[in-house]
Amino acid sequence: MLLNKILEKKSKIGVFGLGYIGLPRCIQFAKKNFKVLGFDNDRKKLEKLKNKKSYLTTVQNKDLIALNKSKFFPTNDLKLVKTLDIIIICLPTPLKNNKPDLSYLRKTLKSIIQYLKEDQLIVLESTSYPGTTEEEIIRPLKSKFKIGKNFFICFSPERDDPGRLIDTYKINRLISGKSSKCKNLGSKLYKQIFKNVKIMNTIEEAEMSKIYENVYRAINIGLVNELKKICHKMNIDFFKVIEGAKTKPYGFKAFYPGPGLGGHCIPIDPFYLTWKAKKFGITSKFIELSGEINNSMPNWIVLNIEKYFKNTKSQIKNKKALILGVAYKKNINDTREAPSLKIIDLLIKKKCKVHYSDPYIKKLKKFRNYKFQNLKSINLSKKNLKFYDFVVLVTDHDKFDKKKILNNAKLIFDTRNFFKFNKSDKVISL
Ligand SMILES: NC(=O)c1ccc[n+]([C@@H]2O[C@H](COP(=O)([O-])OP(=O)(O)OC[C@H]3O[C@@H](n4cnc5c(N)ncnc54)[C@H](O)[C@@H]3O)[C@@H](O)[C@H]2O)c1
Repeated sequence: MLLNKILEKKSKIGVFGLGYIGLPRCIQFAKKNFKVLGFDNDRKKLEKLKNKKSYLTTVQNKDLIALNKSKFFPTNDLKLVKTLDIIIICLPTPLKNNKPDLSYLRKTLKSIIQYLKEDQLIVLESTSYPGTTEEEIIRPLKSKFKIGKNFFICFSPERDDPGRLIDTYKINRLISGKSSKCKNLGSKLYKQIFKNVKIMNTIEEAEMSKIYENVYRAINIGLVNELKKICHKMNIDFFKVIEGAKTKPYGFKAFYPGPGLGGHCIPIDPFYLTWKAKKFGITSKFIELSGEINNSMPNWIVLNIEKYFKNTKSQIKNKKALILGVAYKKNINDTREAPSLKIIDLLIKKKCKVHYSDPYIKKLKKFRNYKFQNLKSINLSKKNLKFYDFVVLVTDHDKFDKKKILNNAKLIFDTRNFFKFNKSDKVISL
């Protein structure tokens, strides 16, 4: 029986998608003595994993070295699906032309359906709108199995925040399933790697909880970005305003403004709900408004840099600019949807000569339609810092040497309050 196999750690787990979510999941289960097969269609990633080399800042080589082949095996041999007890799906759920792109999920299910058998459990971890598990997984398998009786399906949203130093075991986990048996199996499985597992009544409630968490962040970030713009005009330091407001012991949670949103979650997930809500004839005004404000931030930053030069009887054209940090947030190597890319693009359009420095990203990969290519991270030496007319602090990586930047850069536009409340005239807070 599958339940006993889970409790005795004898169930064989296959994780689909070895990215920011899937690879750490493999390691978590393998460390608990489960046998884990990691499936990915990116050959380069598989090759690296076979050589015990990580491609993520959040997974160390030593984590891979500690696992031998019998514990964790990276592969793309789909026939092995028939040897599995549990299939965990951590595939991308991006937007394509501003619409949910579930093609990764659909293609994978289509190609493994022939290898699925009774008594297996599928858990979807990828974020999507409410109804996805039912429409995309349960429905296509209904003719093959008695779902909830001889085949089990759960949804358990991922809440990780790559780069945040927190013990994953302590992050409360949500799970739901098609039947009480599904819920029981899923919760017992996740209890092996998470301290607290909350069973949600329906799959749709669990799916919506995840989206709500990210909508909440997107809207609050939109709010502080708008307030920052207002305060900038009124010559009020908004970061000091936050310091004041957050002394209130209840009814307030501090959010911080920045150069705009990035990553695979906050700029994307809310629009999954927007799309679904439209099918019900509802417009998600809050989501669209926050999206508009957050997306406007790179443009606002570049316009203010331009204004700064105009006000000082200079011009932005032909200036040499250095972007500090291209990852969408601190201490990781992820540039998906990063606002730095838009800022680079806009500065190039203003005829600036732009370079970047990021300790985590040696080379910028091609992303969306941005024309600039082959940009490589430059070394943050004193000489290099002195060379540029201005630097823009976009990502507040802990590895950046604050003192060195302050002492050597000619002019600093700080979009993250990285230099705190530094009095130097050369730091312009944006
Ligand atoms: N990254 C985060 O911080 C985060 C947090 C919470 C939830 N999520 C959600 O988790 C899901 C995965 O996100 P991620 O950041 O890990 O994505 P990712 O892009 O880092 O990883 C996805 C992996 O899937 C692989 N893949 C693509 N197509 C495949 C296929 N057909 N077969 C096998 N592998 C395939 C890719 O090569 C990649 O390695 C998304 O739904 C995302 O919204 C992500």
